[in-house]
Amino acid sequence: MAGVPRVVLGRRGPRVPAVGLGLWQAGFKMWGPREEEAVRSVREAIRAALEHGLTLFDTAEIYGQGFSEKLLGEEVGNRDDAFIVSKVAGYRVTRRGVLKAAEGIRRRLKRDAVDLLLHHWPPPLHTPLCSVVRALEEAVDRGLARYIGLSNYPENLLGKAVECARRHEILVDQVQYSLAYRVVERGLRPLAEKLGVTIMAWSPLAKGALAGKTAADNKARKGDPVFNAASKDAELLETLRSIAEGLGATMAQVALAWLVAKGSVPVVGFRRRRHVEEAFKAARLRLPEWAIHELDKASEKYRSLWGAKYSAVQNLRWVPSPIQMLVIRLMGGI
Ligand SMILES: NC(=O)c1ccc[n+]([C@@H]2O[C@H](COP(=O)([O-])OP(=O)(O)OC[C@H]3O[C@@H](n4cnc5c(N)ncnc54)[C@H](OP(=O)(O)O)[C@@H]3O)[C@@H](O)[C@H]2O)c1
Repeated sequence: MAGVPRVVLGRRGPRVPAVGLGLWQAGFKMWGPREEEAVRSVREAIRAALEHGLTLFDTAEIYGQGFSEKLLGEEVGNRDDAFIVSKVAGYRVTRRGVLKAAEGIRRRLKRDAVDLLLHHWPPPLHTPLCSVVRALEEAVDRGLARYIGLSNYPENLLGKAVECARRHEILVDQVQYSLAYRVVERGLRPLAEKLGVTIMAWSPLAKGALAGKTAADNKARKGDPVFNAASKDAELLETLRSIAEGLGATMAQVALAWLVAKGSVPVVGFRRRRHVEEAFKAARLRLPEWAIHELDKASEKYRSLWGAKYSAVQNLRWVPSPIQMLVIRLMGGI
């Protein structure tokens, strides 16, 4: 089988598959009940991913409160061809908190070290940012992680965090980015390019809407305005459909390939072998210029619809860390 195209993370980071696979779904909490059959399907999909050489996986300590990491650990473990991204929760703001969480992540993943450790969302207002970055760096120095990065950091905080880093490069900022959420293109992506930080795109299919899903059939989709807008956007969906048809691809493949063409690394949520096979094809699909142009045009309004600046999960910054932690624990993760 021909291989998966790879890209470099950051300026001098490792080379990873151009499309990653997200395991929020494998935590099940907001995506539906954790039934035996559903868990088996995720396990099979992970094995299919490894067979296809799609070895970039994304998870987090809060996905099913560690369940997603454990599942991945059982299937992948210490394989050195895999590259696993995990995230310490944004409420971890002390050195001790970050290091303890990183140790927990490594243990659940059954790995010597997590390959890329991210801070999941920016710390609450008035919390010293540099202490979080230094703690991530210390996780590398202690062998708990190989590389570090951030998630959901808007441009002002990304700039500051990069200045704080002393010994290790911040490789990525993982943010919401898709044809239906393009606000990152206005300020964050140009800054990230200047700083040599890779944009990793979460919700690249707007939770399935850009693959043609219309039913808000679980909590994750119900509460998501981007899913709701995209699933009703006849013009954008029709453009995706006709380009996909013309290229002998699917809407999902085209939506992911568009993100790759924009220089980002999408991490697509998966629960089935079919999702993995499509992600594999998407990584190998090079969109012609005319298709990129048509998609840009059909999704132009999403450059400004959600505001002038990156806003996903930013309201958490108003909530003190102990309260964030309590609420997420009481929920049993997300
Ligand atoms: N850093 C953060 O704050 C953050 C936030 C959210 C997500 N993430 C990461 O990003 C990943 C992806 O984001 P997301 O889950 O929000 O949204 P997404 O990737 O846009 O949507 C995933 C859903 O789309 C459907 N899907 C996937 N491939 C498909 C295909 N080929 N054809 C048809 N449908 C397909 C599946 O729905 P069904 O399962 O219903 O079939 C899947 O669960 C997550 O798993 C997580 O790792 C990070």
